[in-house]
Amino acid sequence: MSLKDKLDLQRMPRHIAIIMDGNGRWAKERGQDRLYGHHEGVESVRNIVEVCAELGVGYLTLYAFSTENWDRPVYEVNGIMELLVNTIRMEVATLSKNNIRLSVIGDMGMLPPQCQREMEEAIALTSQNTGLNLIMALSYSARWEIVDAARKIALDVKNGTLDPLAVTPAVWENYLCTAGIPDPELMIRTSGECRISNFLLYQLAYAELYFTDTRWPDFRSENLYQAILNFQNRERRFGKTSEQIQQNEEIIS
Ligand code: IPE
Ligand code: IPE
Ligand code: MG
Repeated sequence: MSLKDKLDLQRMPRHIAIIMDGNGRWAKERGQDRLYGHHEGVESVRNIVEVCAELGVGYLTLYAFSTENWDRPVYEVNGIMELLVNTIRMEVATLSKNNIRLSVIGDMGMLPPQCQREMEEAIALTSQNTGLNLIMALSYSARWEIVDAARKIALDVKNGTLDPLAVTPAVWENYLCTAGIPDPELMIRTSGECRISNFLLYQLAYAELYFTDTRWPDFRSENLYQAILNFQNRERRFGKTSEQIQQNEEIIS
């Protein structure tokens, strides 16, 4: 039985978030420049997006560039931005064909103008699609997002449109970049690092975390099936007891 056949299609994670890590090390291990790793990483993006669309996953968030990544050498930052522009330009037709809706979370204003234009065009072109929601985290960091939300809330309180006592988790979530997007249920990080690196700190509160040593350019469909299978074998309790969860499942089935 293949890994894919073992998946329970009724219990797919609704939202998968991925920290695509290890491009640089993958390239260095092959005696190549780090940018080669980023280029090869695009092939994994294509593959994983296609598989998620096929499996009926609702949302896929890919951490492609963090706020902190701006501090990398200029040569690498420029190379990644160029790769981003070229990839979006080349892939937008395939996204449309596969009914995929693209969006971006992060400080878009930090991106080079050409990159912003390309992203905005692709977002507009795919906005009516109803299949997989592909969310690119670009110039994103959770602390930036949370502080930005706090600032917007403070401004709305100041201008009288928001009552501070009415701020609930649901209201707060509307001020985050992910407003309207359900929380990730499965968070995957490739390449062996077991940390969150400023990714979706609020939204990952109850996500199942999955870490694999596989470097991002080597991460393909089989690795994703493995991660989903692992997810499907876990018991998610949300603070309750195991008995409560099992009773609830018996009532549903
Ligand atoms: C992830 O791979 C891609 C980005 C952060 C842009 P890295 O570039 O971090 O690769 P490693 O972790 O140095 O191997
Ligand atoms: C996290 O990877 C950001 C992305 C994958 C885009 P990093 O490589 O930047 O994270 P650290 O520096 O290892 O924590
Ligand atoms: Mg890294």
